[in-house]
Amino acid sequence: MFALRGVGLSVDRGRFVAIMGASGSGKTTLMHLIGGLDLPDKGSVKVDGLEIPALSDEERTLFRRRRLGIVFQAFNLLPSLSALENVMLPMLVDGRPYAEARQRADELMAQVNLSHRQRHRPATLSGGEQQRVAIARALTTRPTLILADEPTGNLDPTSAASIWRLLRHLASEGGTTVLMVTHEAAAAAHADVVHVLKEGRFTGTIEAGGCADATLVATRYAQLAD
Ligand SMILES: Nc1ncnc2c1ncn2[C@@H]1O[C@H](COP(=O)(O)OP(=O)(O)OP(=O)(O)O)[C@@H](O)[C@H]1O
Ligand SMILES: [Mg+2]
Repeated sequence: MFALRGVGLSVDRGRFVAIMGASGSGKTTLMHLIGGLDLPDKGSVKVDGLEIPALSDEERTLFRRRRLGIVFQAFNLLPSLSALENVMLPMLVDGRPYAEARQRADELMAQVNLSHRQRHRPATLSGGEQQRVAIARALTTRPTLILADEPTGNLDPTSAASIWRLLRHLASEGGTTVLMVTHEAAAAAHADVVHVLKEGRFTGTIEAGGCADATLVATRYAQLAD
């Protein structure tokens, strides 16, 4: 029994790519393989020229810490820390000086439009604001690749739209590659291209071009996922 098979995907730097598929189609498994959180039985996974399965456990940890930004459906913020401290934490864990972490966190909070919420604890922020803090935290290392697994699954439509715009902006302006997993056409429609995953295989591609047209993507998806 394989969760994925025959899956071939190549993503150019600075692209916003969505992987769309039903529950159990293998989306999270694919993200875990790319992020080195899981190892394939067979096959190759390359990020930035690094062959991920060939790295040691320690090298994979450093790869995640220094090159990847990971965003989940659950925001996973520490409740006792302020928004700013949550963003600073991974830099402090990585041994960076406090002042440098503080300055970078300030910049990132501004980038996600949350400068006015720095001192707030997660419980006093809206869902969309919490996810923006989580994205700021994922950006601390200037990642070459952001992996986002259902990043708007817990959000209302307005907050979700602000996250999609932010991810788009990071890809088009920041040159960061964004790989987002979703089962929602409204989310996938913001990506440049959508790859449809069904039962562990790719069944086709939708050139969404960031159109934000959920109906168009839903229609194409229904054909490809059939
Ligand atoms: N390490 C593994 N080895 C083999 N099968 C697995 C493994 N992890 C998950 N699976 C199975 O592979 C399938 C895909 O799981 P995965 O979590 O990737 O789905 P998903 O598309 O993310 O679903 P959801 O939308 O519900 O999050 C499931 O049937 C799951 O039970
Ligand atoms: Mg999943």
